[in-house]
Amino acid sequence: MYKHLFPAALVLLFVRLAGGTIVDDVLDALQKAVDCTSRHALLHPLQALAHLGNDAFVDLLSTICIQSGEEDPDVCTGISSAVGPIIAHDMRQISPDGRTATRLCDALFGLCDPPPVMEFQVPLPPAPHGPTKRFPSGKKVFQVAHISDVHIDHEYTVGAEADCSKNICCRVFDDSLPQVSEPAGPNGNSKCDSPVGLADSMLEAINDLKDDVKFAIFTGDVVEGATWLVDRPEVTNDLHEFNTQLASKLSIPVFPAIGNHDSAPVNSFPRSTTNTTIDSQWVFDTQGPDWAQWVHPEGAQQVIHASGSYSVIAPGSHLKVISINTQYWYKQNLWIYDSDTPQPDPNGILKFLTDKLASAERAGQRAWIIGHIPIGKEDIVEDQSNYYDQIVQRFHAAIAGQFFGHSHKDQFEIAYSDYNHPSALNAVSVALIGPALTPTSGNPAFKLYDVDLDTYEIMDVRVYFTNISDPSFQSKPQWDLYYSARDSYGPLVNLQPGQPLNPAFWHGLTEAFRANETAFQLFNTRISRGGAVSPCDASCKNVTICDMSAFRSENNCDSPTPGLNLRRRANDDANTRDVSECGGPSISSIFSRIVAKQLKTTAP
Ligand SMILES: *[C@@H]1O[C@H](CO)[C@@H](O)[C@H](O)[C@H]1NC(C)=O
Ligand SMILES: *[C@@H]1O[C@H](CO)[C@@H](O)[C@H](O)[C@H]1NC(C)=O
Ligand SMILES: *[C@@H]1O[C@H](CO)[C@@H](O)[C@H](O)[C@H]1NC(C)=O
Ligand SMILES: *[C@@H]1O[C@H](CO)[C@@H](O)[C@H](O)[C@H]1NC(C)=O
Repeated sequence: MYKHLFPAALVLLFVRLAGGTIVDDVLDALQKAVDCTSRHALLHPLQALAHLGNDAFVDLLSTICIQSGEEDPDVCTGISSAVGPIIAHDMRQISPDGRTATRLCDALFGLCDPPPVMEFQVPLPPAPHGPTKRFPSGKKVFQVAHISDVHIDHEYTVGAEADCSKNICCRVFDDSLPQVSEPAGPNGNSKCDSPVGLADSMLEAINDLKDDVKFAIFTGDVVEGATWLVDRPEVTNDLHEFNTQLASKLSIPVFPAIGNHDSAPVNSFPRSTTNTTIDSQWVFDTQGPDWAQWVHPEGAQQVIHASGSYSVIAPGSHLKVISINTQYWYKQNLWIYDSDTPQPDPNGILKFLTDKLASAERAGQRAWIIGHIPIGKEDIVEDQSNYYDQIVQRFHAAIAGQFFGHSHKDQFEIAYSDYNHPSALNAVSVALIGPALTPTSGNPAFKLYDVDLDTYEIMDVRVYFTNISDPSFQSKPQWDLYYSARDSYGPLVNLQPGQPLNPAFWHGLTEAFRANETAFQLFNTRISRGGAVSPCDASCKNVTICDMSAFRSENNCDSPTPGLNLRRRANDDANTRDVSECGGPSISSIFSRIVAKQLKTTAP
């Protein structure tokens, strides 16, 4: 049973709080919260508590977390004071029995299936007449580097404990012990976020490439994963530092996107209509001026006024790069649950994207979309994922590429005009997902694209990596070619010379993976650049391939099913990584684990 988790300390809390009986009700409801209905019931006393004020709410979250033993006390306190006020704000605004409450239950505790997509037709301009399809010239290519999820830890301390009880180590925490069992080396460790020098070495490797690299894209997440400690001064400083590092190490322009870690508290991006003092405009005000050197003053103004999104024409080209802030569609941005009125397009990001694509189409340009969170992932709200897909269906001829990060993995997601009958013929777009620099999810890596000079389609994807297990890594990281998608996967799908790696190619690859176990296992190893390989059996393979064919989160195979979701989050199997890897400890992961434990103890 769960009761033993609440000894004397909590009784003291009861006395301290004016709403002692409400706290009792919350704890009682938490014990009974074993399915979606009872999870909803839990929201009633939580709402009563929220009306007493943020402090009582934060105290309760913190106490539950500490008593559960799921995280160290300092982590519990830090996270609760960061997100408690946001959840309390939500609870004061919404009905505990409504659709938004179900979505909040899904985000916070798992077990509640997300509600069906709320139908909404994105306003779209009519399609132009005449053929728009272009073919690659196959004559000349240039290169673009794709870096992602650098998660640079400015407090990385050489010699600090690399094997600690927190989600990232190699830094001195308040409760660190004096004796060290595994001292952190100078260039990084798989249990730690990136030291500055590791990022330097990657940027130098990109600069040293002999290829014709015209620009870089960076798909977000600058800040380290000690989410319970990050605050606005730290994040502001981290963002400035990385912008400076990019500018000083790279001799090419960089087109960045904002990640969910690039705010404080982590994941916190309130809608512009939300009445709160905890806004995230400072993130955009920080990035806009710093990015002006690459995105020009107009792009910088867009960053500031369009919630971090902008578009820019890549130098000397007819390619429009559109960078979007995906965080208003992120389930762990807990601000999005503060209204019972549907909010189809929070902060107008979908409209921004539509407008930029429409103007690119009118101008005869092609477009690349870059953003942090891949749109088909389980942690993107099903509604906005569906709406985004509508935009892709309309503009797929203008879209020559889409690039994301967040999962830390080398992956891809295909959009189809008919998700019920996916085929090479109706594959309309593909999102390429960049691997991370941070060693926490495998060997640090970046992608290098060969891009057709006329069509801006991708002719090859080459992954470069540094092997953290190699003896030379701690003295000087070596960056080497890991594989070329064209060389390695081309023969599996009979790719002809001069053909691009288009959506049909990636679809063909899913079929090859289904049929060829060796090829699939090669892909599975490459997900983490051979660094943190999870065995993938037949059912894991099914899920993995299903997810490749899902550009809409409603179509992926990670949709939570009662019981399954929590187990997935609680264990470290192949399917949990999407949820847990990028987030670091969060109130949702803690709640989920508490509830998972409870299910285990109450199971017959
Ligand atoms: C915004 O919140 C403050 C503090 O809770 C409140 O006093 C004010 O009336 C709110 N404003 C609006 C427009 O709701
Ligand atoms: C990394 O280096 C280790 C140790 O030399 C080696 O066993 C491993 O195969 C290498 N990994 C890759 C992906 O090359
Ligand atoms: C299966 O994939 C492996 C690895 O890519 C490749 O070497 C092999 O030729 C493939 N087999 C067939 C029958 O295509
Ligand atoms: C994988 O999916 C196929 C259908 O796509 C199904 O026939 C098969 O039973 C599944 N395998 C497992 C282990 O789930």
